[in-house]
Amino acid sequence: MPAVEVSNLSKSFGGVQALRGVSLSLGESEVLGLIGPNGSGKSTLLNVIAGVQKPTSGTVKLGGRAISGMRPDAIVKLGVAKTYQIPKPFASMSVRENVAVAALYGRRLRSVGPALEEADRTLAIVGMGDRSDLAAGSLTAQEKKRLELAKAIATGAKVLLLDEVFAGLSSEELRDSIALFRKMHEELRFSALVVEHVMRAVLNVSEGVVVLEEGRVIAAGSPDQIVHDERVVQAYLGSKGVGT
Ligand SMILES: Nc1ncnc2c1ncn2[C@@H]1O[C@H](COP(=O)(O)OP(=O)(O)OP(=O)(O)O)[C@@H](O)[C@H]1O
Ligand SMILES: [Mg+2]
Repeated sequence: MPAVEVSNLSKSFGGVQALRGVSLSLGESEVLGLIGPNGSGKSTLLNVIAGVQKPTSGTVKLGGRAISGMRPDAIVKLGVAKTYQIPKPFASMSVRENVAVAALYGRRLRSVGPALEEADRTLAIVGMGDRSDLAAGSLTAQEKKRLELAKAIATGAKVLLLDEVFAGLSSEELRDSIALFRKMHEELRFSALVVEHVMRAVLNVSEGVVVLEEGRVIAAGSPDQIVHDERVVQAYLGSKGVGT
């Protein structure tokens, strides 16, 4: 049974149809890349799966159970965590406290002690142990992205919905982040839907790739199939080239 099954999902914002009948399936422990031009509906799809937005029609199933229409906090407690394209930590709280809040929330912990321990464990995993005591608001944009990832992992989620966590990195930072992601996936065996414009990241972390254009799936396949798909190259990759 897939971890997440999206069937015929549509979402309109007034006159804008952000999603038009999207179906996809995310396997147990699978990492699926989700690419597409700006405005093609990638963030909207993650938001609908996470319950942050309600679908206009269609269903989302988690381990066979329908979750579409449920509240986001209930969906987190079922083991689905989403990062935000634009990170919004509690700026005046420390990094450690931000992650502890996520652990409390996602793991239904009843006291702060175990949540802080979970935060320390997670920050070590994502290589931010030395940032623990800083105010989250003082982090660089990159560190805020990594904090988003730490918060998602600290919830104990089995399904991660990651919105551009590899964006804006230098070549070296990207290499380190890809290696870190692969190591975390090997250890934690989560399933992940990875929205990304950075092709080097998508191709290096994903087993499969789904391509959205104007709210529709226009292609799905292995990274190798996708970079050679004529329609994808035209619609999206175009002059940017691939594998960079
Ligand atoms: N809350 C909203 N209200 C109105 N329109 C929205 C809202 N959220 C998204 N849209 C519209 O829905 C479409 C899809 O947007 P979405 O943010 O999902 O695209 P995206 O693929 O994530 O783009 P990007 O790569 O730029 O992040 C766009 O036309 C966008 O303007
Ligand atoms: Mg987006």
